Amino acid sequence: MNAAIRAVVRTAIYHDIAVTGIYHGYQGMIDREFVDMNRRSVSSIIQKGGTILKSARCLDFKTKEGREKAYNNIKSQGIDALVAIGGDGTFTGAKIFSEEYDIPVMCIPGTIDNDLCGTDYTLGYDTANNTVIEAIDKIRDTASSHNRVFFVEVMGRDSGCIALSAGVGGGAEAILLPELNSGIDDLLDEIYLAESRNKTSMIVIIAEGDKNGGAYNVAKIVKEKIPHLDIKVSILGHLQRGGAPSSFDRILGTRMGYIAVNELLKGNSKATVGIRGNQMVTTPLEEALNTKELKLDDELLAIANIMNK
Ligand code: F6P
Repeated sequence: MNAAIRAVVRTAIYHDIAVTGIYHGYQGMIDREFVDMNRRSVSSIIQKGGTILKSARCLDFKTKEGREKAYNNIKSQGIDALVAIGGDGTFTGAKIFSEEYDIPVMCIPGTIDNDLCGTDYTLGYDTANNTVIEAIDKIRDTASSHNRVFFVEVMGRDSGCIALSAGVGGGAEAILLPELNSGIDDLLDEIYLAESRNKTSMIVIIAEGDKNGGAYNVAKIVKEKIPHLDIKVSILGHLQRGGAPSSFDRILGTRMGYIAVNELLKGNSKATVGIRGNQMVTTPLEEALNTKELKLDDELLAIANIMNK
């Protein structure tokens, strides 16, 4: 997100446009948390995780009164257009706000979950994948040295994108994904197959949105069915959301911030920027929020099923 903030600030200033940073997202619009930004305000932030402008879940912005207050505040501050960075909550807020008020809005998809349409990749997803893969590598040392089965739970909310990508990249023996809705019996089959092929340790990735009740529950059921397994659980949690962004995310954030400003200058609004096949694109917010279009990469799924045997 910091790479995107930096690019928005520097691209706007390049075009002689003044930039106001808003702390805590929509909450800051309501509470008047504004700060003038210049090129130096975004020095040395491209390598930092999180966001220098801070983040908040804002319930007030879900109300008409909250949005009216936000609009009056940004207008009195002299703000003529908004760039909002975040996930589906941010996008939904931006859509409603820009329909109610005459203010150009451009969104930048920032979430580790990769669960927004209009882009192949959301900001933070690649960094989170790298973090998970590094964790799997480390866990595997114990798994293989001690002949253990590890259940590793990863984030992603309802999306299995991190689980699938990190599962393939980390060489997981099995992956439980919310999109596939597979039951424990399928997992047991995978474990029996692995044992029959003389595998002495396993890494099973469980997406947090998986419907089998989380890694501890899956571990408990598997232990009941196959008592001789030495099972351990590792829930990676919020370490997946922090840390220095990957090279891919820094460049993507920079491209997204640059495009967001340029698209606003061209008169584009109520849209999100995204990347499709290495081309920067924009997509109307309405389409970007249509998550029915979202699906896992079928080819990667097929590959995972061959690699894990
Ligand atoms: O949406 C990003 C995400 O990290 C999800 O993967 C996870 O379910 C959720 O946020 C965690 O949110 P919080 O930090 O509020 O617990």
